[in-house]
Amino acid sequence: MSFPSGQDPLSVTDRQTTHQASLAKDPSLPGYRLSAEGRQGVEDERLSLLEEIFDPLSRQRRTLVQPGWRCLEVGAGRGSMAKWLAQQVGEHGRVVATDVDTSYLQRLSIPNLDIRRHNILSDPLDDLGPGSFDLVCARLLLFWLAGKQENAIRRMVECLRPGGWLIDEDGDWGLVAPVDPAHPHYEPYHRAWRNGEWWTARGYDPLFGRKLPVLFERCGLVNLRHKASASVVRSDSPWGLWWRQSLEGIRASEQADGSLTEERDKEYESLTAPLNDPSYWLMTAPIHACWGQRSLS
Ligand SMILES: C[S@@+](CC[C@H](N)C(=O)[O-])C[C@H]1O[C@@H](n2cnc3c(N)ncnc32)[C@H](O)[C@@H]1O
Repeated sequence: MSFPSGQDPLSVTDRQTTHQASLAKDPSLPGYRLSAEGRQGVEDERLSLLEEIFDPLSRQRRTLVQPGWRCLEVGAGRGSMAKWLAQQVGEHGRVVATDVDTSYLQRLSIPNLDIRRHNILSDPLDDLGPGSFDLVCARLLLFWLAGKQENAIRRMVECLRPGGWLIDEDGDWGLVAPVDPAHPHYEPYHRAWRNGEWWTARGYDPLFGRKLPVLFERCGLVNLRHKASASVVRSDSPWGLWWRQSLEGIRASEQADGSLTEERDKEYESLTAPLNDPSYWLMTAPIHACWGQRSLS
C-alpha cells in the first residue's frame, strides 16, 4: 500500500481544546467497561482471543511501517501488536506501548519496546514525545471513549511528526446480529438488542467505527483511507466465543457497579444463550480501519 503526502495544516483552536478537555473529565460519560481489575485471568483470556482473531488483518493494515520508525501503540492491552511493531521497526526503531493498565504489557521484555502507563485523554503528552512518531495506532479503544473520541484523536495526532500516519481500527458494534430469522434465538436476540440500541442505553455509539474518516478529517489529517470488513460466523467460532466473553465482561462490570437490573440480566441471557448453540450463525461487527496523515506543513 502506498500513501501520497498531503498538504492540509493541522488546526486546533483554543476553544476546541478547552471543550475537549472538559469532556475528558465529564464523569457522566461512560468509561471502559472491560477493565481487568478483579478479573485479570478472564480478561487475559479474552484479550488473547481478541489478538488471535484481529492480529492477522491488523498486521496487513500496518504494512506501511518501515525499519527504523518510531511507533506509538495507544491502549495496547496485552501488547501483541506492539510486539509485532517492534519486530518490524528493528533494532534502529523504537515502539512505545501505552495503556491505563500496564499489568499485561509489563510481562513483555523487548529491547526496543517501552511500556508507559498513560491515559490518552488526560495524561501529559510530554510523557510520550509529541511530534515525534512516524506511526501512531490504536485498536478497539476509541469506541469506549464515548463523547471523547475527537479529543483522543487530536492528542494522538499531536504525537505524530509532520507526515506521520495515524491508524485506528474500531467497530460498528451495534451491527452484531443473528442471520437466520427462522432460528429460535433470532427473535429474543433482536428484542434485547433493539438494532444495537442496547449500546446506546449504556452511553455508547453503536455505529461508531464508520465515523472514523469524519473524525480524522476534523482533526486535520489528510490522505485519508478507509476499509471495513465483517464475516458471518458460527457461535462456536473464535469470534463467537470472544463475543460471549465480551458480553459476560460487560455484564460483570454492571453487576459490580450495581446497574445490573433484573431486566438487563434477562437481556444478557437472550444475547449470550445463542452463543452456546452451534446451530446459530451471526454476523460479526464490521471493523473499520482508517488511515490519515499529519500534514507536512
Ligand atoms: C479492547 S482493549 C484492546 C487492546 C489492544 N488495543 C488490542 O486490540 O489488542 C482496550 C484497551 O484500551 C485500554 N484503555 C481504555 N481506556 C484507555 C485510555 N483512556 N487510555 C489508554 N488506554 C485505555 C484498556 O485498558 C484496554 O487494554
